[in-house]
Amino acid sequence: MARNDLIIRVAGEGGEGIVSSGDFIAAACARVGLEVYTFKTFPAEIKGGYCLYQIRTSSEQVYNQGDTFDVFCAFNGEAFELNKHLMTPGTAVVYDYPGGDFEPDLPEGVIGYPIPMSQTAKDLKSYRSKNMVALGALSVLFNIEEETLIRVLTDKFARKGDKILNLNLEAFAKGKELGAAHEKTDPYRVADPQGAKDVIIIDGNSAVGLGAIIGGLDFFSAYPITPATEVAKYVAKHLPKRGGTLIQAEDEIASIAQVLGASYAGKKAMTATSGPGLALMSEMLGMFTMSETPGLVVDVQRGGPSTGLPTKHEQSDLFLAIMGAHGDSPRIVLSVEDVKDCVDMTVEGLNIAEEYQCPVIILSDGSLAFSTQTFPTPDPSSFEIVNRKRWDGEGEYKRYEMTDDLISPMADPGTKGGLHVSTGLEHGETGAPKYTPENHELQAKKRFDKIKPIVDRYRPVEIQGEGDADVGIITWGSTIGVVREAVQRLRAEGLKVKGFYPKLMWPMPVEQYEAFAATCGKILVPEVNYQGQLSHFIRSETNIKSSIPYTICGGLPFTPAMIVERTKEILS
Ligand code: COA
Repeated sequence: MARNDLIIRVAGEGGEGIVSSGDFIAAACARVGLEVYTFKTFPAEIKGGYCLYQIRTSSEQVYNQGDTFDVFCAFNGEAFELNKHLMTPGTAVVYDYPGGDFEPDLPEGVIGYPIPMSQTAKDLKSYRSKNMVALGALSVLFNIEEETLIRVLTDKFARKGDKILNLNLEAFAKGKELGAAHEKTDPYRVADPQGAKDVIIIDGNSAVGLGAIIGGLDFFSAYPITPATEVAKYVAKHLPKRGGTLIQAEDEIASIAQVLGASYAGKKAMTATSGPGLALMSEMLGMFTMSETPGLVVDVQRGGPSTGLPTKHEQSDLFLAIMGAHGDSPRIVLSVEDVKDCVDMTVEGLNIAEEYQCPVIILSDGSLAFSTQTFPTPDPSSFEIVNRKRWDGEGEYKRYEMTDDLISPMADPGTKGGLHVSTGLEHGETGAPKYTPENHELQAKKRFDKIKPIVDRYRPVEIQGEGDADVGIITWGSTIGVVREAVQRLRAEGLKVKGFYPKLMWPMPVEQYEAFAATCGKILVPEVNYQGQLSHFIRSETNIKSSIPYTICGGLPFTPAMIVERTKEILS
């Protein structure tokens, strides 16, 4: 029996080509019109350490990496042992034997397909091709479209030269032979090709880069930091082609200062970093607020604090993004749900910064950074692009003029008649320093009040499920995709459960939180951090006093099954 929704996990040692194997399977499935969602986690070391790549593929939409795998491919004994507890009767396991570093003790009912991956690669005198032996076996055993797979790996290896390409094709063919020699006794097959669709498959970091290009970015400056570096890599490839500028700065403080300068000069500007980088940027973010300068920071969160778990997933920078400021320093904080959202919200982040002339922080995370997902190819012309309110040159120019909407027109440097003072000092309407008590109160209020309308705009929240519910689940960031599926499953069982998904994290759309909670018996708040950071803001900002935090922080995301189980516990 063919299963429509299949999860394949490949695991082994960093440097063994786990990531390439996973990328190839994901790309091949996407090219034949299947939905794909991948998850990978790897060590901070360049070579060595446990590395995992999971591909979920289906003919239906998938929102997350899934619960656990149906098919497991073990490159070594460590990978096998680490995943053994997740194997259940019927799980299909392809493993490196004989000739590998282990002889597995398969749990009862698990279906094993030994493939001598290392030995075959050694015989071909191409040890790197071990992963291609595995891929050949996986393709024949689990119906991964062969022609497309060969095209995908040829595209990748052709640039490494004919010798490497041919050795890998040979290893792939050998793997196929070895796989075909087994009698298949498990029910798992990748869904049949659906016909090519107009979709792209990219990871979350590239999607942020794509959103930046669509959103009209002119200037990008960043300092490399895992897991955010790939945003800069994408932008470096595409921004110069359209006349933009990218700088790799000497550190995060320099990069955010350059973004401030470029934006002051009239350019749409942004940076991407992770928690430690955002912490360094906090002083300069105060100057964005004080000088009312638009700017976007994408924070790809990782396990912290300090160097922490640089390659692992966590959602623990919400406090930093919202409160990591000196003085009264309003900013707008957004979060992203999935890879497609990384495109959409980056465009919105740039728009919002321009419109409200303030710093905007988008919270992505380590899981999304490296997850690839298929979604319809974005049409740049379908996005609304917002540019800052500029001075029309009429009358006397006042940089911080008290307008009706509190947004003061900006004059780019060099604009005739637009000369003004711009510093980090408190100022009056003209920009000249002014420290009177009345003025500081007035200007602080202006900076807070001007961003208030955001609460009713830019699709701040989404609700899944109608009517009253026994349990309402509030979550944010990439946990939304997990909760979406859990809510679907629970509702399919007839349970009264709803989901509430804010994309605008700050200022909080308090009325919408409270209206949602009023329709729910209990509120559950899952998030991947130790302290329950969103739960904290729900308690401090809204009248919802009885929310139940559900926190994990082991470097991995939630699975839908975890949310289903916890919700049922609450219901019972
Ligand atoms: N034949 C030839 N080359 C092959 C191959 C094959 N059969 N299979 C893989 N390769 C190449 C890949 O093309 C890739 O080369 P490229 O970089 O030129 O594209 C390279 O070998 C690595 O293989 P890949 O599959 O991408 O990765 P991996 O699964 O072996 O895992 C990493 C290695 C990349 C995940 C990992 O070890 C790493 O770099 N970690 C980064 C750690 C980090 O970011 N630390 C930051 C700390 S702050």
